Amino acid sequence: MNALFKPSGPLRGRLAPPSDKSISHRAAIVAAMASGQVRIHNYLDADDTNSTLAAVAQLGATVERGPDELVIRGRGLRAAQVPPGVIDVGNAGTLMRLLPGWLAFQAGSSFTLDGDASVRRRPVDRIAAPLRRLGAGIDARDGRFPPFTVRGAALRGIEYELPVASAQVKSCVLLAGLATDETTVIEPMPSRDHTERMLARAGVSVARARGADGSYWTRVFGTERLELDEVRVPGDISSAAFLLTAALLVPGSRIVLERVGVNWTRAGFLRILERMGAIVLGELEPEGAFGALEPVVDLEISSGPIEGTTVTPGEVPLAIDELPLVALLGCFAAGETVVRGAAELRVKESDRIATVVTGLGRLGADIEALPDGFAVRGTGRLPGGRLDAAGDHRLALLGAIAGLASENGVEVVGMEAASVSYPRFADDLARLVA
Ligand code: S3P
Repeated sequence: MNALFKPSGPLRGRLAPPSDKSISHRAAIVAAMASGQVRIHNYLDADDTNSTLAAVAQLGATVERGPDELVIRGRGLRAAQVPPGVIDVGNAGTLMRLLPGWLAFQAGSSFTLDGDASVRRRPVDRIAAPLRRLGAGIDARDGRFPPFTVRGAALRGIEYELPVASAQVKSCVLLAGLATDETTVIEPMPSRDHTERMLARAGVSVARARGADGSYWTRVFGTERLELDEVRVPGDISSAAFLLTAALLVPGSRIVLERVGVNWTRAGFLRILERMGAIVLGELEPEGAFGALEPVVDLEISSGPIEGTTVTPGEVPLAIDELPLVALLGCFAAGETVVRGAAELRVKESDRIATVVTGLGRLGADIEALPDGFAVRGTGRLPGGRLDAAGDHRLALLGAIAGLASENGVEVVGMEAASVSYPRFADDLARLVA
């Protein structure tokens, strides 16, 4: 599906962006592992998180959708049911990397996960290595691509050092670690900690420390049961980021986005925006008001001039999915905007260094790819044209926002990809532009 996004009048008004995708995946997986019933409020209704519900149902959890909540009855930690066929993760890389953490300790059972063409291109070797060390049997195509088979076993605790900070890999190891005495993940820099927060809420002992070399340590201690009564999923800052960017770039805009999750390990984009000169207002909800699990805020932003910035490698994991928007902002910023230390972008739903640089370049941006990022020279304008989403939801949404801020509009080829994280995007945009 092609969609045309014309230069827009100001965005005005307030709305709640979609629920957080990362936290929704975790809520469904942890609920499936739990004993008893878990009520999940604001579970994201999108392709990726629907794949997770289908997967946990295949593993024997019961999933009931009520009018304002989802109720999952878990299997308990060690009683995942073996489905008759392959578990289809669709486009969801997070599901592909988190779920094997649970399956790895279903002793004597074997499970195969597979997904769409994009998931099949994305390596899974970074979860294969620690899962093997924990004691699970793993097979992958060419040793590193899906389909991915996990043979569950009795696991032993490990200390595992991640070469690159990754919340997905960390989460996989921590989930598997629940079936060991203790398991530790060491990251060179922090990544989003939604799994740790949810496991702690479910009764797991989770410890964290800083290494002498500045590394981040997360340790879980084994347990026999998880109990999680209720989870409230906040608004997704990664989806909100598209609307924040549109409001910042389209003159005369002022919008409020309600109940956005602003956990500091996730909200690096807000700090980058502020450094570029944007004024983002938000009052932290009093602790506990919306469930103490994750802090949430109503964010307010208005259009205004921005300056180029350099995103440092340490900031990358805290804003990984928003970096394409930093490239777009760079087109309109005074001076140069540079992102380094972000080679991870190459193994996302598309090679996001290549697709962002080619996509924005064809719209008239002065942008250059670097091995581990990109550099943009701000010209204060973007002529427009056509952008191919390459099957990547964040590229489709990037093209849409580029169109609103452009001189002649942008035609996005493959806009349907947006349904992976933000199915209601067109309606939300229409509300803010009306
Ligand atoms: C995610 C972590 C990030 C991110 C992805 C979702 C998660 O990936 O890019 O969209 O939910 O843990 P990495 O952990 O591989 O960097």
